[in-house]
Amino acid sequence: MMKIVVFHGSPRKGNTYLATKIFMDELSKYGDAEIAEFFLPKDLPDFCIGCQLCLGGMREKCPNTRHVTPIFDAIINADALVFATPHYGACSMPASMKNLFDHMDFLMLNVSPREEIFNKKAFIITTGAGSTATIKPINKTLKHWGINRVYSLGLRMYTNKWDKMRATRQTKYEKSLRKSAQKFYYAKKKPPYLSTIFFYRISKFILKRFVGEGNHPYELWKEKGYFKKRPF
Ligand SMILES: Cc1cc2nc3c(=O)[nH]c(=O)nc-3n(C[C@H](O)[C@H](O)[C@H](O)COP(=O)(O)O)c2cc1C
Repeated sequence: MMKIVVFHGSPRKGNTYLATKIFMDELSKYGDAEIAEFFLPKDLPDFCIGCQLCLGGMREKCPNTRHVTPIFDAIINADALVFATPHYGACSMPASMKNLFDHMDFLMLNVSPREEIFNKKAFIITTGAGSTATIKPINKTLKHWGINRVYSLGLRMYTNKWDKMRATRQTKYEKSLRKSAQKFYYAKKKPPYLSTIFFYRISKFILKRFVGEGNHPYELWKEKGYFKKRPF
């Protein structure tokens, strides 16, 4: 049984939703899948207010905990995460998707490394009229969480509606989605990314040099032995 959490970055059930449906349909063919879906912004309607309580180790005190906690629990308990989002302008993702990453920033491994995160795989699906650049910041964020493997597929539509794409392109994209879903389903845990190891080392240096004893997350790292041995 694979537990999968899907985050839909746009409330419009358009191109990205359709692409994600094809992907999830294929994924479900390879074995039992327990799927939880979050629709943004409906399931996380309030913006992060920047109070930094979560970054100080008090995640439960987030003023939006009513929405954040079910999402956090779903992430922690999942085997695989799917982030489905259209590409929006220079900032690259809809505010609703960015709001999810703002609220989950405490998952960054320099703040509070969590063993549960290091075994997970993630998939980013994005559609754009011509750009798929939103993959890059999401990919980087997930690697900084310590997600073991991050896969992605970006679809350039050259139109605003799936049905308006040439039939050959529709077929090609459906095939890519199904192939990616199969690959994702069978993807096994691999050694950590070099960039994740590098981020861990930099974090360790910064915590020792600039944060120090008695402060969060230095004490958490110390208590869990992360200064001596990397947790992934
Ligand atoms: C506010 C907004 C900004 C967008 N900016 C871009 C952009 O900069 N580059 C691009 O290729 N597509 C852009 N698009 C087009 C969407 O990414 C594209 O139509 C996508 O497939 C829509 O996905 P959806 O049907 O799931 O909403 C933008 C769309 C919106 C609504």
